[in-house]
Amino acid sequence: LFEKERPDIVVNFAAESHVDRSIEDPEIFVKTNVLGTTTLLDASVKYGVKRYHQVSTDEVYGDLPLDRPDLFFTETTPLHTSSPYSSAKAAADLFVQAYNRTYGLPTTISRCSNNYGPYHFPEKLI
Ligand SMILES: NC(=O)c1ccc[n+]([C@@H]2O[C@H](COP(=O)([O-])OP(=O)(O)OC[C@H]3O[C@@H](n4cnc5c(N)ncnc54)[C@H](O)[C@@H]3O)[C@@H](O)[C@H]2O)c1
Repeated sequence: LFEKERPDIVVNFAAESHVDRSIEDPEIFVKTNVLGTTTLLDASVKYGVKRYHQVSTDEVYGDLPLDRPDLFFTETTPLHTSSPYSSAKAAADLFVQAYNRTYGLPTTISRCSNNYGPYHFPEKLI
């Protein structure tokens, strides 16, 4: 696909994303979220992609106590994962950073909180 399309920008939304399923079967989360990311990073380096963006999650920061609304996460909050899902997402983030530093690939990472909308998968009911 990279050979044919020669993309300028890659945005990686793809993931195994359901926390409960990651507890039942962690391995597929490593395959998709970590190896899937390094596969895209390798292709992005090989084909000179101008920007690689990784869609990550706020869950890489762990969780905050419900009775402490004064606390919040920032970009400098240490990674503190608590599920195979969030650990695989954090591992992917670290590979993105490594490809930026090691191979000079222009990268960005966003770590959004939960969101929903059209085509929302029912397992993610809020
Ligand atoms: N939904 C949220 O509230 C939320 C919050 C924070 C971060 N995120 C992140 O946003 C991204 C999208 O989440 P979502 O809620 O739309 O999840 P989702 O599970 O609905 O969508 C994930 C997509 O990835 C695809 N995918 C899975 N394995 C793949 C593979 N091996 N190769 C190619 N594609 C594959 C699936 O087919 C699916 O279309 C994920 O990276 C997730 O970690 C979502």
